[in-house]
Amino acid sequence: MHDLGILLSGRGSNFLAIADAIASGKIPNAQIAVVISNLAEAPGLAAARQRGLNAIAIEANGRKRAEHDQEIVATLQAHKVDLVCLAGYMRLLSPRFIQAFPQRILNIHPSLLPAFPGLDAQLQAFEFGVQVTGCTVHFVDEQLDHGPIILQRSVPVFEDDDPHSLAARILKQEHIAYPEAIARVLSGKYETIGRRYLPKP
Ligand code: GRF
Repeated sequence: MHDLGILLSGRGSNFLAIADAIASGKIPNAQIAVVISNLAEAPGLAAARQRGLNAIAIEANGRKRAEHDQEIVATLQAHKVDLVCLAGYMRLLSPRFIQAFPQRILNIHPSLLPAFPGLDAQLQAFEFGVQVTGCTVHFVDEQLDHGPIILQRSVPVFEDDDPHSLAARILKQEHIAYPEAIARVLSGKYETIGRRYLPKP
């Protein structure tokens, strides 16, 4: 059984998509061991509690990033987490956090990386005038929105879109992409070669 740890800061719709995919067997042999938020009032944390999951707020409270991260790492380890999924977690991870889970931290970003890293990726893409954008699930490394790509899904940008309608279209694809990417990683059938994530021969 694979034990997932989810980190979130907000709404938690990607967390719920992952939880639903586990319940329906789309992510086999997995369970959510713990959901952690840096914000106690995150709606995603309340949703996790409602589902009977371990849901823990670990707020920074003015502490340095490394110290706050150390408490999160200890909590993940105490719950025997073997895959960490960032799902709208709005803080950068310290190098020691990343080193504690080598190739075992995933993130979802609402653009086709390497285009539009950072905040408000959907708005960045809209304002740039791209006609295709999407979402990316990738391994986390020490650079922002940068690690090897596990999978991407694209969406068109329509002439009558606004940033809101575009973000909603991307979000639907995020909810498909994240569970698929987790299943791919847990299957053990893929490997990272350079920056490419490929089926093992
Ligand atoms: C998503 O757009 C995700 O790509 C980004 O933050 C947002 C989180 O949304 N990293 P939710 O909390 O999962 O609903």
